[in-house]
Amino acid sequence: MRAIGLIATCVLGLEEILEGELRALEAQDVERQRGAVAFTGTWEDCWRANWRLRTANRVLVELGTWEAPDGPALAAGARALAGGRSPARVRRGAIDVASLLHPDRSFVIQATSTASVVRDTRWAALSVKDGLVDGQRDRWDRRSDVDREDPDLHLRLRLLRDRATLLLDTSGEPLDRRGYRAVTTAAPVREQLAAACVLASGWDGRGPVVDPMCGSGTLLVEAAWFALGWPPGRLRRHWAFERLPGYDPAAFTAVLQEPIPTPGPNVRLHGNDESAEALRGARANLEQANLLDRATLTRGGAAAFEPPPGPGLVLVNPPHGERLGTDAVRWRALGDLLKQRYKGWKAAVLAGGEDRGKHIGLRPRRRIPVMNGPLEGRILLFDLY
Ligand SMILES: C[S@@+](CC[C@H](N)C(=O)[O-])C[C@H]1O[C@@H](n2cnc3c(N)ncnc32)[C@H](O)[C@@H]1O
Repeated sequence: MRAIGLIATCVLGLEEILEGELRALEAQDVERQRGAVAFTGTWEDCWRANWRLRTANRVLVELGTWEAPDGPALAAGARALAGGRSPARVRRGAIDVASLLHPDRSFVIQATSTASVVRDTRWAALSVKDGLVDGQRDRWDRRSDVDREDPDLHLRLRLLRDRATLLLDTSGEPLDRRGYRAVTTAAPVREQLAAACVLASGWDGRGPVVDPMCGSGTLLVEAAWFALGWPPGRLRRHWAFERLPGYDPAAFTAVLQEPIPTPGPNVRLHGNDESAEALRGARANLEQANLLDRATLTRGGAAAFEPPPGPGLVLVNPPHGERLGTDAVRWRALGDLLKQRYKGWKAAVLAGGEDRGKHIGLRPRRRIPVMNGPLEGRILLFDLY
């Protein structure tokens, strides 16, 4: 069988780290895109990507691509795909779209548009939906229901420079919903950004993990799951691919049983925060993540926190949104703290706010610009000597 075209999507800025994850999974034809990494593989590779990728949002399968300078062209390409016809201008993926789009399967379609004549994404989605159901009528004499709540197929249309690509979401709920967030406190970092800090830090999994401003504990959890070789899908019960043709529960169980490297089987976590409420959230989340027995949580200022004997990994996501004047002073204090107390440690700082770590007073080994929701941020990486 021809390899399936797959795309793992991610937060802008995490492409390189996601590419590294895919290469570690021995994915084929890996190609970095904006906010995504494309690769090819089998259905097993698709399931494995959903189960194992820490920095991806979703895994999509490519169904077909065609030139679509206007609404009618969008609809015509979709109709050809769903009707099983192959005009030369429609490049199909390895999936038999006409069988996949059987009228017994409901679907929903969402669109994005970048640098294209068709800019109205609702209209683009509607044009493709019309084309798909016309193609179904051509082939089956009947059409699918559109189901916005619980569809069998989550379709995505990506319009980029007037080229349409129809994709199928195999994840369903985004992959960053790990299932350990029992309590949401103020400004938690997103799970895939927290995982990116850990993966980019160069930490080998040995020694303790410290977060002196731990908030709800996301960075600690992601570090521990990496060290213990626990996959990010571990608490998840469902993926959209379970409802797709070709899903084989026994073959998926074999993927679940594949060994994952365990660089830090004895990892210990040390979380500190000045807020009692944040610590309550961290405790609940660590418990949900099966990590409470490995964690020590303390309340106090980060400056007063004494780290355990290292070296290890120190992760910090300082508060943002403070006034500019005080920001520079706080950043400097954090830089001094890292320098003095964490000699020999690896450090990753997720910096947001106006300053984005400019005043930290330490030279990062690397700065990675990332989008943290709508906010620009930076992952700053340090080898502390
Ligand atoms: C942006 S939040 C961290 C969010 C965390 N990464 C998470 O995923 O939930 C910043 C945290 O730093 C704490 N904090 C602010 N200043 C602090 C200080 N000087 N010492 C200790 N904790 C501090 C706040 O209480 C807050 O929980």
